[in-house]
Amino acid sequence: MAFHVIGAKFGLRDDVARRIVPKVNLPLPGSGGGSDREPPATKCCVRPQLHPLFPEEEALNAQAVATRRAEFTTALVCAREALAKIGCSPVPILTGEWGAPCWPEGVAGSMTHCQGYCAAAVARDSEVIALGIDAEPNEPLPDGVPGVIARREELTFLASLPVLGVAWDRLLFSAKETVYKAWFPVGRRFLDFHEATVAVLPDGTFVAHVLVTPPILRGKPLTNFSGRWTVVDGLVLTTIAVEAQ
Ligand SMILES: CC(C)(COP(=O)(O)OP(=O)(O)OC[C@H]1O[C@@H](n2cnc3c(N)ncnc32)[C@H](O)[C@@H]1OP(=O)(O)O)[C@@H](O)C(=O)NCCC(=O)NCCS
Repeated sequence: MAFHVIGAKFGLRDDVARRIVPKVNLPLPGSGGGSDREPPATKCCVRPQLHPLFPEEEALNAQAVATRRAEFTTALVCAREALAKIGCSPVPILTGEWGAPCWPEGVAGSMTHCQGYCAAAVARDSEVIALGIDAEPNEPLPDGVPGVIARREELTFLASLPVLGVAWDRLLFSAKETVYKAWFPVGRRFLDFHEATVAVLPDGTFVAHVLVTPPILRGKPLTNFSGRWTVVDGLVLTTIAVEAQ
């Protein structure tokens, strides 16, 4: 299975840290430079003059604040570079139903941005039929949020996990968002946080089971996912790639 992930970390020099880590299926933000407490980025951290947005893309965020525009631009530049790696020529990546990105024909992909970090993952759908990626700060969720986003069995499981410097509740949240991003292009409806049950395991993997009537993808119900996670540079990163078989 081959897919490409491009990540960019705000706060470093122009030659931003980017890594492609196909073995572990995860983007690693740059090491060194930037601290976890950097102020929100207000400029794109990749040189946008080298990767101008298409006018249709510019129009999507014309009214947005500078921080949002910077993140949006960086994520699109990452996506464009990742698409180039799989042989796709540059095309506008617009926003479709429920906010999902519209990838070129024959491509599965996903994007994420959080404070200080953006990434995009893409693959040919002959190899990968669904992709999800999400980044979050490695910090506990605000009080009250775990009870809203997690099912009872998930909360019980979280409480049993070892103390390892991982904000497990945030990791669960990220894994759920990754499930949604991978599931949505097939399911095509909003998926509530309680409509999937996810177990994050200390070995850097997670498994998810979606509890709604499954959509059919290439003749098979899309119900179960397995993903990977890592914690690096103050970030929690989760990915899912469903292999075409
Ligand atoms: C859509 C959502 C997952 C985005 O996550 P987030 O942490 O807020 O933001 P991220 O930066 O990681 O991801 C944003 C990107 O996700 C992508 N995205 C948005 N909606 C999407 C969808 N329906 N399907 C797939 N990808 C989507 C877009 O590329 C977006 O980038 P953009 O804002 O520049 O267009 C989140 O806002 C949301 O609505 N969650 C509720 C649904 C959910 O997660 N359910 C869990 C089921 S177990």
